[in-house]
Amino acid sequence: MNTLIAPSILSSDFGKIYETIEMINKSEADWIHCDVMDGRFVPNITFGFPILSAVKRVAKKPLDVHLMIVEPEKYISDFKKAGAEILTVHLEACSHLHRTVYAIKESGMSAGVAINPHTSIELLNEVIRDIDLVCLMSVNPGFGGQKFIENTFSKIDRLKNMILNHHSKAKIEIDGGVDFSNAAKLISTGADVLVAGNTVFSHKDPVAAIAQLKNSSAHTITN
Ligand code: DX5
Ligand code: ZN
Repeated sequence: MNTLIAPSILSSDFGKIYETIEMINKSEADWIHCDVMDGRFVPNITFGFPILSAVKRVAKKPLDVHLMIVEPEKYISDFKKAGAEILTVHLEACSHLHRTVYAIKESGMSAGVAINPHTSIELLNEVIRDIDLVCLMSVNPGFGGQKFIENTFSKIDRLKNMILNHHSKAKIEIDGGVDFSNAAKLISTGADVLVAGNTVFSHKDPVAAIAQLKNSSAHTITN
């Protein structure tokens, strides 16, 4: 399957946000990953609706909005209005996950569920048929540029089996520490979407970095 690449604008220069989105528009990227943090669910604060709306005005690719906030169910229609196409909430932040997933879908967005590195994929068993995306955090959420957690490979493997067993259409997205050294193995293990912040935006040629990630599977060596 064609792997989707979602550059995370968290690692970009926000003073040049329009140039960044134009760069993503002309690249091989598939989605634009937008990390919303509230300083409560995670120890960092990023941006909210005005920035998302500004990104949306120039974006030619879907906004993949990753909410690292408490009580995300309060803001579903606001994120829809701001331009989110895919809205991902954290399992750990939702007391009524099933209800929240359906509220996202009813407002016309694709519904994603993210889980932290310590959270077992088995907790997704009862909603896996209802969701469009599982975002496996491969770092502890809050910051870009962190080291990839190796246990993610085992989680992808088990999640893939769960998805197949339930005939779910959920895509597997990997978020955190994705780089040129692990991309091919992530894809061969079962990842459908790779999020990349630091790998794209610390590169001297971000368009080339996106292309290299996009074509990682061509270099897959099964081991
Ligand atoms: C972390 C965010 C990630 C982050 C990834 O909490 O959810 O999307 O931007 O950044 P890198 O690719 O630099 O680890
Ligand atoms: Zn993210």
